[in-house]
Amino acid sequence: MNRPGTNQGGDADIISILLVDDIPETRENIKKLLAFEPDFKVVGSVGTGREGVTMAKELRPNIIIMDINMPDMDGIQATTLITESVPTAAVIMMSVQNDPDYLRRAMLAGARNFLTKPILPDELYNTIRTVHIRNKPIAAQYAAMQQATPVNIRDNKTGGTTEGNRAGHIIVVYSPQGGAGSTTIATNLASGLMKEGIRVLLVDADLQFGDVGVFLNLQSQSTMVDLAGNVDDLDIELFDNIVVTHDSGLKVLMGPARPEYAEVIQSNPTSVSDILKKIGSNYDFIVVDTSRHVDETLLSLFDAATKIVVVGTPTLAAIKNIKFVLDLFDQLTYPAEKTTLILNKVPVDRNRQKFTISSEKIEKFLKRPIEIEIPEDELTVLTAMSKGVLIVAQRDRSRSPVKELLALSELLYTRLMGDQTDDDVQQDDKAKQRKSPLGLRFGKA
Ligand SMILES: Nc1ncnc2c1ncn2[C@@H]1O[C@H](COP(=O)(O)OP(=O)(O)OP(=O)(O)O)[C@@H](O)[C@H]1O
Ligand SMILES: [Mg+2]
Repeated sequence: MNRPGTNQGGDADIISILLVDDIPETRENIKKLLAFEPDFKVVGSVGTGREGVTMAKELRPNIIIMDINMPDMDGIQATTLITESVPTAAVIMMSVQNDPDYLRRAMLAGARNFLTKPILPDELYNTIRTVHIRNKPIAAQYAAMQQATPVNIRDNKTGGTTEGNRAGHIIVVYSPQGGAGSTTIATNLASGLMKEGIRVLLVDADLQFGDVGVFLNLQSQSTMVDLAGNVDDLDIELFDNIVVTHDSGLKVLMGPARPEYAEVIQSNPTSVSDILKKIGSNYDFIVVDTSRHVDETLLSLFDAATKIVVVGTPTLAAIKNIKFVLDLFDQLTYPAEKTTLILNKVPVDRNRQKFTISSEKIEKFLKRPIEIEIPEDELTVLTAMSKGVLIVAQRDRSRSPVKELLALSELLYTRLMGDQTDDDVQQDDKAKQRKSPLGLRFGKA
């Protein structure tokens, strides 16, 4: 039963569909099947991938049913372009072959599901409805973001999909305390930075126990380990084959699949930051989740970062560790603006507050402002995680902790998009001239 008001958007219960297939009979057959169901509306039907991209931008359908093999531009390439320029639309790929390689490539391009020809009516209906339901919170997130911010500021410059001229801001999320919420914040920050025409990459650089894949319900055998061996020859095509696309359209570079594979990367401590620098011009923002253990890999990421988000919790142990880290950054001659200090798991309950430290005291002790305070809210965080969706994709954006996580994204978006200067380059050069800070601290030279 359809209950009015339970869906988002205007024509809430009607799913708008664009068909893209080079064979007119196939399009007609699908159209006929869809006509039997009152909740489907075919808004367009085109015969090439290129037309598919154009019509997707124009019609902004909820669902695009896309053939994989087409002359001029194939379904995979069209899907990549659509995922980027019309992120509110969900693509369902169609193919005659039930080939796992096709499926993998389609999913990497951002397709949400797959139909094998000949298409059976029930399978078609169920797939469309399931994909639509899963896509709704994601589409709502994009729609709201597009209204909330001046998202078109870069569109002229980037032309929407142009590669190679992006700012490549590296935002490293770090907490010296385990379990403080670094992964939660990195994943939601990356998602919060996604707007129309903006390319965001999330990187799991917690090499031993990275759990970005678990948080986002992503599985992939392709990880940064596949790239670390030959960073010098890295090209964007290879890179695109390694990154995974989350349902929300977010691109993710996964960390080593097993802790022991981390050695490949640790044997060359600058490999991760080298990879990110190399592909930086293809992304506006690269958000990096890290582990709390300070090693040379982490230090090279700190050096490469445009901003470091330092995550603390309001406990004595956490604040003591944050002090250590901020001192280390001073020693590395990072300017204060390079770090953004935030608090996570701030209790809202008065009884719980008795056992934590007030933000005023923390700011006084650290001599730093706390820029965002994210309340503790286990239910929201765990509910999102169990579904593999992001907290910031929730419908009610005015609720904590959604509100604060989005505020963090907006803060960094505004700061970074407003001040792309030569400072970053100079900072990097300075870092190169310096002796290894780990060597300084732990006598490793
Ligand atoms: N604001 C919050 N309120 C309630 N629970 C939270 C909040 N933020 C994170 N959590 C929970 O705390 C736990 C640790 O979070 P997360 O894994 O993001 O931290 P981490 O710093 O990445 O930890 P690790 O050291 O294991 O990498 C998770 O179970 C997460 O769901
Ligand atoms: Mg983590």
